[in-house]
Amino acid sequence: MTILVTGGAGFIGGNFVLDWLAGTDEAVVNVDKLTYAGNLDTLQGLQGDTRHVFVRADIGDRDVIGRLLAEHKPRAVINFAAESHVDRSIHGPGDFIQTNVVGTFNLLESVRAYWNELPADDKATFRFLHVSTDEVYGTLEANDPPFSETNTYEPNSPYSASKAASDHLVRAWHHTYGLPVLTTNCSNNYGPYHFPEKLIPLVILNALNGKPLPIYGDGQQIRDWLYVKDHCSAIRRVLEAGKVGETYNVGGWNEKANLDVVKTICSLLDQLQPRTDGQGYAEQITYVTDRPGHDRRYAIDATKLARELGWKPAETFESGIRKTVEWYLANQDWVKNVTSGAYREWVSTQYGA
Ligand code: NAD
Ligand code: TYD
Repeated sequence: MTILVTGGAGFIGGNFVLDWLAGTDEAVVNVDKLTYAGNLDTLQGLQGDTRHVFVRADIGDRDVIGRLLAEHKPRAVINFAAESHVDRSIHGPGDFIQTNVVGTFNLLESVRAYWNELPADDKATFRFLHVSTDEVYGTLEANDPPFSETNTYEPNSPYSASKAASDHLVRAWHHTYGLPVLTTNCSNNYGPYHFPEKLIPLVILNALNGKPLPIYGDGQQIRDWLYVKDHCSAIRRVLEAGKVGETYNVGGWNEKANLDVVKTICSLLDQLQPRTDGQGYAEQITYVTDRPGHDRRYAIDATKLARELGWKPAETFESGIRKTVEWYLANQDWVKNVTSGAYREWVSTQYGA
């Protein structure tokens, strides 16, 4: 048997492919466009592994996707591919609409055409799992209950609006055409192979390089952090046992203010690789202009996933963040390769020279 994964050279998709092949012999066809966020270094450990077939392609390319589906006959498609960075979506929303909305539409059409032709048994067991975000629900006030699957969609950024649109398309393809879909809406991930434009890897690397640690606004915005491997185990569980047409919120019950996250990273680095001048890394914290339309708080109620499918995360924030910092310290080669020209260009667009 085979699954087809899109976006498997990115942060979460890459972790998913590595974990999948570490746990089963079922082959993976990995389709990724290799945008600035796609990185084949992440998959280096799979070189020569015949269970992994990598294809550079756009999810919106119906010819290529149709051909791959016909050739490999996957029992499931898991869609990770997306433009994923809120700040980039503010600077240039076009790519987000193209990949997250138009790309998902084209992928759904390719998959529907394939699924329609499957023999009855395969048609019944086929799944299309769409990986989405808690950001589609908008923002919470301090005392609001966390997001549940029944919250209304109130996306505030071009990124979250494009993901919300893709979720709606997936839902409609189920209700109108019967495509057997599953959707997961997960909170902020962190862990190995995270591209250093996002808060946690950016702070680790800036700290080590003696650069400022930029805090948007007052740093009291709250995110609900989940270790990436826990997100991957949740996706595997939903794929295995999720009810067709349902959505599942995924989260780690780890709400933290950004400033606290940054201070935690600083104190871990103080222990693991202290600054040579005797100062703490927290000295490098710098307050910068806030993100426009910055959502104040995200929090996920993952009760449904726990109750119906028995999933729970393996890591606490404390254990996961320590593993993450240790991973970045031990994998400087990966870091060096990822901080390419395109990355440096982004840093000067966002933070100035
Ligand atoms: P990422 O930006 O690290 O990786 C995205 C991958 O998709 C890259 O490898 C990129 O090359 C590929 N890609 C982009 N456009 C493509 C296209 N048109 N065709 C084929 N491949 C394309 O993102 P991530 O953080 O790994 O997120 C993966 C998914 O999980 C996304 O759908 C995102 O919305 C969702 N998600 C992310 C988080 C998070 O905290 N990172 C949380 C919840 C949900
Ligand atoms: P990010 O990792 O971009 O994820 P998202 O915006 O999808 O939640 O940002 C996490 C939080 O950290 C968010 O509230 C924005 C904030 N942030 C900073 O304060 N400084 C930074 O340099 C970055 C990249 C993010």
